[in-house]
Amino acid sequence: MGESLTGLRRSHMCCDVTEACIGQEVTVMGWVQRRRDLGKLIFIALRDRSGLVQIVFDGENSAADIFQKAETIRSEYVLAVRGTVCARTEGNINPNMKTGKIEITASELRILSESETPPFQIEDNITVKDDLRLKYRYLDLRRPSQLKNIVLRHKVVQVIHSFLDAEGFLEIETPILGKSTPEGARDYLVPSRVHPGNFYGLPQSPQLYKQLLMVSGMDRYYQIAKCFRDEDLRADRQPEFTQVDMELSFIDEDIIMDINERMMQKVFRDLLGVEISLPLPRMTYAEAMERFGSDKPDVRFGMELKNISDLVADTDFVVFKSALEAGGSVRAINAEGCGSFPRKKIDSLVEFVKTYRAKGLAWIAINEDGSLKSQIAKFFTPEKLQEIVDSMNGKPGDLILICADQDKVVFDSLGALRLELSKMLGLTKQDDFAFLWITEFPMLEWDEEENRFVAVHHPFTAPMDEDLPLLDTDPGKVRAKAYDIVLNGYELGGGSIRIHRRDIQQKMFSLLGFTPEDAQERFGFLLDAFQYGVPPHGGLAFGLDRIIMLMSGANSIRDVIAFPKVKDASCPMTDAPNVVDQKQLDELAILINEQLLTDTQAEETTEA
Ligand code: AMO
Ligand code: AMP
Repeated sequence: MGESLTGLRRSHMCCDVTEACIGQEVTVMGWVQRRRDLGKLIFIALRDRSGLVQIVFDGENSAADIFQKAETIRSEYVLAVRGTVCARTEGNINPNMKTGKIEITASELRILSESETPPFQIEDNITVKDDLRLKYRYLDLRRPSQLKNIVLRHKVVQVIHSFLDAEGFLEIETPILGKSTPEGARDYLVPSRVHPGNFYGLPQSPQLYKQLLMVSGMDRYYQIAKCFRDEDLRADRQPEFTQVDMELSFIDEDIIMDINERMMQKVFRDLLGVEISLPLPRMTYAEAMERFGSDKPDVRFGMELKNISDLVADTDFVVFKSALEAGGSVRAINAEGCGSFPRKKIDSLVEFVKTYRAKGLAWIAINEDGSLKSQIAKFFTPEKLQEIVDSMNGKPGDLILICADQDKVVFDSLGALRLELSKMLGLTKQDDFAFLWITEFPMLEWDEEENRFVAVHHPFTAPMDEDLPLLDTDPGKVRAKAYDIVLNGYELGGGSIRIHRRDIQQKMFSLLGFTPEDAQERFGFLLDAFQYGVPPHGGLAFGLDRIIMLMSGANSIRDVIAFPKVKDASCPMTDAPNVVDQKQLDELAILINEQLLTDTQAEETTEA
C-alpha cells in the first residue's frame, strides 16, 4: 500500500539541497537509508540517485499525525517529504556528506511505498555473496559503488558519441538476427518459426555487416553494439557484452590508431581527469611475447622475461636439455626482493605455473650474503649458476624463477607468474594507466585439435604486404595488419585492416581449410559484395565493459553491467535460460532429445 503523489512535485534531488536553499521550502523523494529515533526527534537519511539528505521530524513542532507516521518508517521505504531547509547546529555538521551542513524539517510526509527488509544492506563495503547480489541486482544497483559504475558507463558512452560524430562517423545499427558464421567462439542460435529447422545466429560482433557498410560507401561507421559469444566466462568475459565498434574506408593502420588513441585520451581526460600522453607506445607481438610472455602485457612494472637457452645449452640437467632438444626454450624472470620467500611460498609458485601446463619451475634464491640456494644447484657448476644469476641482474635478496618447455607454455607460465607476483607484491597502482598498442600479430595459428590453421584475429584480416609471398610458402609465419589496444594487462580492443581483394580473401579461406563451396556457403554474401567495388577499409572494436571496469577499478565486468550473467551464463534474478512451453517448441518444430539431455547433465555434474 502506498500513498499517492497527487499534488506533490519534486523540487530538488536530495543532493541538490544545499546551504543555498536554507529557509526555502523543498520537496524531495527517495528511499530511506536509515532511521534514527531520539525520543522527540526522528532523523531519516533519504537517498536518491544523487545521494543522501537528512530529514528531521520534530515531535515538539510538527503535527502529531506526521510524527506518528514517521515512527512507522523502515529502511528502503519510498517517501515524499516536503519541508523547510535549516542549517544544522555546529555539533551536528557532517563533513563527509555533501548535504552535511543542512537538514530538512518535514512539514509533510507521504509513504509512497513500503519495503520488506532487504536481503542485504544497501551500502558499500558489505560482504555479500555474488549470487545473492545478482539475484537482487535491482537492490545491488542502489549501492553507491554500483550506481557510480552505471553513471560512469553512461558518461563514457556520451563522450564516445560526440567524439565519433565530430570525426565524421555515422552511427548505424546492424541486425541481431543474422546468419550463423561461427569463427572463434560458439554462436547463440535462435530458431525460426517461419522457417522450421532454420536458425538465426546472434552476432559475435558486427564484423561482416560493418564491412558491407564500407562497400555501401558509408565511409565511417560506428555502433555501440551488443555482441553474443557462447564461450567460457571469466572476470572479463560475459556471454553478451558491448563493443564500441567502428569501421573506416580509405585509411591505414596509423589513421585508425590515431583516432582511437585520441578517443581514449578524451574519455580519460573528461571523466577521470587523467592525462594520457600520445602517441601511445607500440610494441610488436613478438617483442611483447619475448619480454612479457603475453600479447596483452601489463607494462606498469618490469620483471621481464629473459631467454637463457644459450646459457644453459650445454647443460646435462635433463629438464632443460629435453626442452631445448624438443625445440623449446629456457626462460627466466627475476622476482626482486623475493629471495627470502619461505619454501612453502616458492612451492605455491611452482603449483601456480602448473595450471599453465608447465611441468615445473626451477628457482635460484640469492641470499643476503650473495651465496646461492637452489634446488637445481647440483646440476650446475657454481660458476654456471652464478652466470645465470648475473644474466638476470640478480642481486642479494632476489629470486630467479626459471621455466623450460615449448615456447607457448613458457610464455603462458612466466607471463602469468609475473602478474601473480605483481599482485602478491603490490607492484601496481590501480589509477596508473599504461596503454599500448600491440602490432604485427601472426595471421594464423595452428590448431592441434582441428588439425588446421585458424585465424588469430579473424579471416578478413589483411596480411602485411611484405609477408604476402609467405602465404604460399610458410603461412604460419605471415604477420597480419592487426593491432590490439592494451591497458594494464587487459585487451581493451582489437582490430585490423581488412582484405579487400577477392583473390586474397579466397586464399585466406582456403588456408583456413574451407573449400570454395564452404566459403561461398558461409560468407558468399561478402564475397559477392566484394565484386562490386570495395574501398580499402579497416576498423577496430573496444570492449566497452572492460573500459568501464578498468576506469572504475571494478574487479569484474559484472560490476559495470546493469544485469550481468553469472559464471554458467545464467541470470539468478530471472532464472534465464529456462524451459519453454511445449506449444512454443511445437511451433518451432523442436524436439528435445531427452537422452542427450541426461548425458549432458551427467557430464556437467562430473565436471562441477
Ligand atoms: P575481438 O573479438 O577482439 O574483435 O573483440 C573486440 C573486443 O571486445 C571485447 N570482448 C569481450 N568483452 C566482454 N566479454 C566477452 N566475451 C568479450 N569478447 C571480446 C574485448 C575485445 O578486445 N570484429 C572484431 C573487431 C574488428 O576487427 O574490428 C572483434 O570482435 O575487449
Ligand atoms: P625433477 O628432475 O623433475 O625432479 O625436477 C627437478 C627440478 O626442476 C624440480 O624442482 C622441478 O620443479 C624443476 N622443473 C621441473 N620441470 C621444470 C620445467 N619444465 N622448467 C623448469 N623447472 C622445472
